[in-house]
Amino acid sequence: MRRISAFVTVTLAVFCAEKVCQQALACAPSFINSDFRSRNHGYMEKYFTQTLDHFNFNSMGNGTFKQRYLITDKYWKKSYGPIFFYTGNEGDIWEFALNSGFITELAAQQQALVIFAEHRYYGRSLPFGNDSFSIPQISLLTVEQALADYSVMITELKQQLIATDCPVIVFGGSYGGMLSVYMRLKYPSIVAGALAASAPILSTAGLGDSSQFFRDVTADFESINPKCRSAVMAAFHQLKELAVLQDYSRIQSVFALCQTPSSAQDVRQLNGLLRNAFTLMAMLDYPYSTQFMGSMPANPVKVACKTMLNGFNLLANLRMTAGIVYNATGQLKCFDQYSLYVECADPTGCGLGFNSMAWDYQACTEINLCYESNNVTDMFPPMPFTERDRELYCSKRWAVIPRPDWLKIQFWGDELSTASNIIFSNGDLDPWANGGVRKSLTSSLVAINIHGGAHHLDLRGSNEADPASVINARRTEADLISHWVEKERAALTVLL
Ligand SMILES: *[C@@H]1O[C@H](CO)[C@@H](O)[C@H](O)[C@H]1NC(C)=O
Ligand SMILES: *[C@@H]1O[C@H](CO)[C@@H](O)[C@H](O)[C@H]1NC(C)=O
Ligand SMILES: *[C@@H]1O[C@H](CO)[C@@H](O)[C@H](O)[C@H]1NC(C)=O
Ligand SMILES: *[C@@H]1O[C@H](CO)[C@@H](O)[C@H](O)[C@H]1NC(C)=O
Repeated sequence: MRRISAFVTVTLAVFCAEKVCQQALACAPSFINSDFRSRNHGYMEKYFTQTLDHFNFNSMGNGTFKQRYLITDKYWKKSYGPIFFYTGNEGDIWEFALNSGFITELAAQQQALVIFAEHRYYGRSLPFGNDSFSIPQISLLTVEQALADYSVMITELKQQLIATDCPVIVFGGSYGGMLSVYMRLKYPSIVAGALAASAPILSTAGLGDSSQFFRDVTADFESINPKCRSAVMAAFHQLKELAVLQDYSRIQSVFALCQTPSSAQDVRQLNGLLRNAFTLMAMLDYPYSTQFMGSMPANPVKVACKTMLNGFNLLANLRMTAGIVYNATGQLKCFDQYSLYVECADPTGCGLGFNSMAWDYQACTEINLCYESNNVTDMFPPMPFTERDRELYCSKRWAVIPRPDWLKIQFWGDELSTASNIIFSNGDLDPWANGGVRKSLTSSLVAINIHGGAHHLDLRGSNEADPASVINARRTEADLISHWVEKERAALTVLL
């Protein structure tokens, strides 16, 4: 789903050099100087002592781990304004904070306290340090544990900050948006409402169609120019012909691969790497250049189609198109197909490094991502990924058998109409959109469509290049949220 790549880690180091973070931990808020605040976009980085296992009193006893969170009270009307809480997803929490400027813009309007909480097993919130990804240490990585973490954290921080009467609104993008929905479903006494941006809550619960994702990726490129789709299909066809002839040295030279492929598996890996470049460009098709999950030019899908249609050497064009994603620096000497892309239980990619292992485990247990490409409803080579394939992979990799029905049982599936105060926003360029809720279910379960919007564009800060649709979406979101906050405040006052 959302992959946090190695590129990003480097960028983050600039914002959060080890020394600065240590210093922040040691200091009381009043000692944090303005230099630190501005370098960190106003956030203080802190750690919360979190229960290791919320659901078993024997397994870990009273064991705890350090969970990271970012906090800013810059806009907060103390002990009165609401709390905007970002339910962190599969990556370093700084990455989400730095790419969700809407939340601080809204906090400024509504005098809110802002907290970004890091998901357990990601970023620096590793319960068992570098051993977190061994078996059985990995087993405390579940959606339920993450939700319990956030609920315990909200409850305790409200006490500490003298904010017990402040309504809490949760925010999240992608898997983080799913967590926001689940927080409102499971902990409605703690959370007054949720903004779930680009949250594929239906498809990940097995309520989708396995060809939907890559069909929608394809549609983005086709809508720029139908010839773009044909060119991509023709290029993959040429690659297939070379593979059938086992002309591996030519494949290596046209794709500038670091190693010569030597098997069908190597070609499959190359196809996966190439398909992943299109996936990322479709998801991150923002109207301005971004540094999120790597660096992207403005309108990457348009850039890709221009590259694909530039002259008749389709294989070279395909390599250069992949280069938009993997060679953004222009420094790449050759494509190392096994290190730039890792095949895992999420066919839309898991990213690299520790975060990718954690996400792979989640895709092997609760979160169903059995998407396939088929070269009929999409432009990619047929790459099946059935529930059976998933089971085989997951039992081998993590010694687990996925439970495809569990998420649906646990979090209501599509029977959501008795819930309340949730916004489901989606952009129609986003291949994740059709895995989510696209139609309003009641007056307080509101679906917002963002025409021309990519993956949770609405969570990003305002930009001159924003289409009117996202400006309107943010306005509707702001109104609904302020309404929920007022209602919750009124309810609390009645209780007093
Ligand atoms: C955990 O429990 C043990 C006793 O069983 C106690 O010695 C220890 O101090 C406790 N640790 C914490 C962090 O409370
Ligand atoms: C944990 O792994 C990271 C990344 O591989 C490495 O930078 C770090 O030094 C390791 N930490 C320890 C304590 O081994
Ligand atoms: C990466 O981009 C640079 C600059 O455009 C180019 O010279 C180089 O060949 C590219 N690397 C690969 C492996 O395609
Ligand atoms: C896609 O399907 C066409 C036939 O419709 C076939 O010619 C082509 O080789 C297929 N491409 C791949 C990559 O399998």
